[in-house]
Amino acid sequence: MRFTSTVLASAAILSTANAAHKGFNYGAFFLDQSPKHRVDFEYEFNAAKQLAGTNGQWTSARLYTMVQWQTTNTVIEAIQAAINTKTTLLLGLWASSGTATFNNEITALKAAISKYGTAFTDLVVGISVGSEDLYRITPTGIANKAGPGANPNELLNYIAQTRAAIKGTGLAGKPVGHVDTWTAYVNASNNAVIAALDFVGVDAYPYWETTTANSIGNANASFYDAYKKTVAAAKGKPVWVTETGWPVSGPKQNQAVASAANARIFWEDVSCSLIKNNVNLFYYTLQDAQFGTPSPSFGIKPAGDLMQVKPLFDLSCPASSKPPCCPCNCITSKGQSVHPPVWAERPSDWHARANGYAKNTSASLSSSTESRTSTQTSTLSISHMPTISLPTTTAVITTPPNPTPTDISPPNVPIDLSGTFQAPNLMVPIDRSNPNTVVGNPYLVQLSSTLSTLFNFDIPLEYQGKTCNLVFHVPPESQEWWQPWHTTTPGGIFVSQLDIPATKLTTASSVGGSKPVGAVNLLAPGEGHLISSAPCTAGTTVGYRADALGPLDLQYFQMTTPASGLFMTVSD
Ligand SMILES: *[C@@H]1O[C@H](CO)[C@@H](O)[C@H](O)[C@H]1NC(C)=O
Ligand SMILES: *[C@@H]1O[C@H](CO)[C@@H](O)[C@H](O)[C@H]1NC(C)=O
Ligand SMILES: *[C@@H]1O[C@H](CO)[C@@H](O)[C@H](O)[C@H]1NC(C)=O
Repeated sequence: MRFTSTVLASAAILSTANAAHKGFNYGAFFLDQSPKHRVDFEYEFNAAKQLAGTNGQWTSARLYTMVQWQTTNTVIEAIQAAINTKTTLLLGLWASSGTATFNNEITALKAAISKYGTAFTDLVVGISVGSEDLYRITPTGIANKAGPGANPNELLNYIAQTRAAIKGTGLAGKPVGHVDTWTAYVNASNNAVIAALDFVGVDAYPYWETTTANSIGNANASFYDAYKKTVAAAKGKPVWVTETGWPVSGPKQNQAVASAANARIFWEDVSCSLIKNNVNLFYYTLQDAQFGTPSPSFGIKPAGDLMQVKPLFDLSCPASSKPPCCPCNCITSKGQSVHPPVWAERPSDWHARANGYAKNTSASLSSSTESRTSTQTSTLSISHMPTISLPTTTAVITTPPNPTPTDISPPNVPIDLSGTFQAPNLMVPIDRSNPNTVVGNPYLVQLSSTLSTLFNFDIPLEYQGKTCNLVFHVPPESQEWWQPWHTTTPGGIFVSQLDIPATKLTTASSVGGSKPVGAVNLLAPGEGHLISSAPCTAGTTVGYRADALGPLDLQYFQMTTPASGLFMTVSD
């Protein structure tokens, strides 16, 4: 059994429109303080969506600031990256550096609204005014040298400014909240702040609860203690979990041992239960070990190319039982008595250090990609078939004409994903047996005699003058129960370029015309197939349609590790 119907069913449920937001926290700069640019944010957002075992659910990003790092009030490039990758946004306005800095946040927020319009505002799920500002001015925060914060009156003023700035704009009506530690919310001196919010964002890390029993066995209870106290203080306002996580490496804090095995336990207990209970969750974090390893490190992925390195622990969420792939030293010792946790010993610059870094993709974008091996040459299939026409109307399509090889690709075409590549930013299945129905599962690619899938790629401006290669990867056969690739009947695929790129609402009857670009007669496990090579149309969105060829019946979740599905590599 490789991919159970239970998994498919729950994946479908989780990807419905009402599912809670699941995302990571994204800092504005790298560890060396150099700013993250659009390509860096895009790389991170795409990597999050392609995490093995998560069914593409991690599609949201929490930001800490609206301002591009090292500028006065230029809009942060994460906004354009979110638009390009269809990533939803929990915006952050930095509120701990005084009024002048906050004014710059407001300036950038307004600039983003007028520059990007609804392409931006439709992605926004919330706006957080501040981050842990109230924690920083407490005796604990001051003792930990947490840096300047903001008092309740300052925050009230900033919240009012934010509401005024979005009034009458595309962001009007978006929930305005604040992020802080649970200790800030149970402190009655901060009640007026809660009263001014639409949602309450809580950061909770059992690892840092050093004055109480804080072993991994107590972590779930400790987390929920903090969460429930926040829910009580919120007096009916929604509580979002804006940061939580368990370190994969670093020093022991009281009883808390940092390890990937313990991070898996925390994920299974806390993250999976929050997902199941439909709580908005922004995990800390996707990857924090770039240009050095922070200590502690909370990254799901280790140092290295974010798209290539594998998660350090299993990210699947079993419905009830533990997955067989759980590290065998998982001991979820539960039910020990837990005292109310308090924040202590939280290192002063922890956030400043930790909010930073991911892969420096400007390097990989400017370098050439010559990583193909000789094995991949032999996997080349058919390409370039400009003469085959494929019906695109509501007429029932049986199987497209069987293409014949016309061309063998030049030897320097990169097939694998070790160099620069693009993943699709939108995947839309269409059903010819229900031509007017929006199939509506953007994560599950489906190919059969009636189902086809549309893929949109955003071609970066940097690809100007280069060659874009459409490649289709089939992962090796796997015994893992969460294997997200399910072939019912083997066969091939037929790919054509859409006259008009797809939208989320495209159906078999509205898809419009397309012209064939290539095909693969038989998809082989563990192989990468070249579909086509053509000059990159840099700066545009290009849509493709994949149809089953022959008897193919296939469903899969697109991911990069192992490479699975349709990608675009680039060569000079
Ligand atoms: C309670 O909140 C007020 C206002 O934010 C702050 O000045 C005070 O230090 C807090 N008390 C504790 C014990 O954290
Ligand atoms: C975690 O704590 C919550 C709240 O007390 C509880 O409902 C849940 O069963 C706990 N999960 C585990 C795995 O212990
Ligand atoms: C990122 O890569 C570019 C291009 O190689 C390089 O110039 C720049 O210094 C790198 N930035 C960091 C933070 O390493």
